Amino acid sequence: MAGTNGVAVETEGLVKAFGANRAVDGVDLRVPAGTVYGLLGPNGAGKTTAVKLLATLLRPDAGHARVFGHDVVAEADTVRGRVSLTGQYASVDEDLTGTENLVLLARLLGHGRPAARDRSAQLLDAFGLTDAADRQVKNYSGGMRRRIDIAASILNTPDLLFLDEPTTGLDPRSRNQVWDIVRAVVDQGTTVLLTTQYLDEADQLASRIAVIDRGKVIAEGTKGELKASVGSGSVHVRLRDAEQRAEAGRVLTTALNAAVQLDPDPVALTATVNGHGTDLGAAEQAARALAELARAGITVDNFALGQPSLDEVFLALTDRKGPAA
Ligand SMILES: Nc1ncnc2c1ncn2[C@@H]1O[C@H](COP(=O)(O)OP(=O)(O)OP(=O)(O)O)[C@@H](O)[C@H]1O
Ligand SMILES: [Mg+2]
Repeated sequence: MAGTNGVAVETEGLVKAFGANRAVDGVDLRVPAGTVYGLLGPNGAGKTTAVKLLATLLRPDAGHARVFGHDVVAEADTVRGRVSLTGQYASVDEDLTGTENLVLLARLLGHGRPAARDRSAQLLDAFGLTDAADRQVKNYSGGMRRRIDIAASILNTPDLLFLDEPTTGLDPRSRNQVWDIVRAVVDQGTTVLLTTQYLDEADQLASRIAVIDRGKVIAEGTKGELKASVGSGSVHVRLRDAEQRAEAGRVLTTALNAAVQLDPDPVALTATVNGHGTDLGAAEQAARALAELARAGITVDNFALGQPSLDEVFLALTDRKGPAA
């Protein structure tokens, strides 16, 4: 990666319009090599369009983008040789089995038959698909399908892998499997540009995140920076005794220096952990608040620290009531 200063992707003022709709509207990005970078945004934010521009599947209307120092327009062939894309719309053939798909794609990439078979078997094993290797992909579950899509995109280890919403619609167990795969891919030295609608996914995987909305980057930073800008999360408390709720509210307000909401459930309260006036992390602040409740003689049945939702992030970053449709 000589000459690129450890930068996998760099864009300046990148624009792509469909008619009057500026799907990508002046985006500046800098993705460090060897990391997972999250593009986080709601439906229609411009995530897939941005990925397609970087993968040379679309041509920008204005601005520049370079992948490992290569311009996506002037050096599109070079860029294509370095990247791989697992789309929302992937390339495996539904009528072929898992093995047939991977072997076919490996042969197209220039591997001889034995090498193609070896690599396919290795990936099917690594992705927990050995038992399904001889089944047609159209009979795979959603999670299996997502895994074979990713396997297909890393037959040749790419320098940069685009994962476009790799876990949308998957159950928690399948999401975790995909996350493990992404981590393994990065351990092999691949840079991953991940798009997602889920803050928790970006949080699990990405070192830096750009929040994108209506074609524009509205926030960028490390996970910590991003969360600090929107409040670190919410504390949910359930009490044994509804009569202690008013007192619990006072204790939490003081301990967390934040507004406390009374939930519809008469024994439950929610408070934001925002980090104002303290250097403590969210978990430490929450633990301290719990200790204060105990000291006040309030019996807590259940206590949870949740992350801000994507909705809360958008509310905090924009003045709108929730994400764009
Ligand atoms: N080929 C196209 N022709 C016309 N408009 C398009 C095209 N592709 C995308 N758009 C529009 O551009 C905007 C951004 O779409 P894009 O697919 O990039 O969003 P996204 O962030 O990937 O959303 P999602 O989370 O739903 O996948 C949307 O308004 C969409 O309707
Ligand atoms: Mg998309």
